[in-house]
Amino acid sequence: MERNNPYITRIYDYEEYLLPHPNRESFDQHWRKKVQNSAKVHVEIGCGSGRYLMELARNSPDETFFGLELRLKRLVLAAKKIKREQLENILLMRERGEYLDDYFEEGSINVLHINFPDPWSKKGRRKHRIFNQDFLKMMHRLFVPFGEIFFKTDHLEYFQSTAELIGNSRNFEIVDFTSDLHQSPFAEYNIKTEFELLFQSKGNPPIGFLRAKHIPE
Ligand SMILES: C[S@@+](CC[C@H](N)C(=O)[O-])C[C@H]1O[C@@H](n2cnc3c(N)ncnc32)[C@H](O)[C@@H]1O
Repeated sequence: MERNNPYITRIYDYEEYLLPHPNRESFDQHWRKKVQNSAKVHVEIGCGSGRYLMELARNSPDETFFGLELRLKRLVLAAKKIKREQLENILLMRERGEYLDDYFEEGSINVLHINFPDPWSKKGRRKHRIFNQDFLKMMHRLFVPFGEIFFKTDHLEYFQSTAELIGNSRNFEIVDFTSDLHQSPFAEYNIKTEFELLFQSKGNPPIGFLRAKHIPE
């Protein structure tokens, strides 16, 4: 139970980097400071313990990175590392990716990253997947023209059905695609996530990766 979770109090220790109970007001207050003069706004849904987001933020100090995650322990681990490195261009929030439009203005996100989202494998549970028509409609509103989606997963059925969903949408176009990321030319620029490192140590299954571009109306 959550009240027995030892991380429930520690989420309050990283005020500048982590919003544990966000609302529009606290988000605006923290985000505005971070995003001033930012060249691009990136969002990662399900950022885990922050490995991928932190590497992006180190590589592009003039851009701003926003991570959403639900699990307390992963958020605390990420916030601790971000604070230690003083990566001021990152903000984390405990919130569902489906609610991005409660916080962001239309046309304000440049890049969306989703890595190894929960696959909800059973047929009756697939409605819980983050990628669906409503989510793409929301992203269509929130993206700047020609904003980008980066998506990878080892769950190849989820990968294929998401590729179809995105490919069939008139608001998006797939520009990069591979069913085996680590054996593809995209591997050179790939930043590995915690889950990806874990998979590598457990037989290295193929990973699907795609990059899609938003097409404005
Ligand atoms: C399989 S893990 C992958 C974590 C990380 N992306 C990685 O590759 O190491 C999926 C993560 O997404 C988070 N998550 C699941 N549903 C979410 C949602 N609706 N919004 C935000 N995060 C979510 C989970 O808590 C979990 O940490």
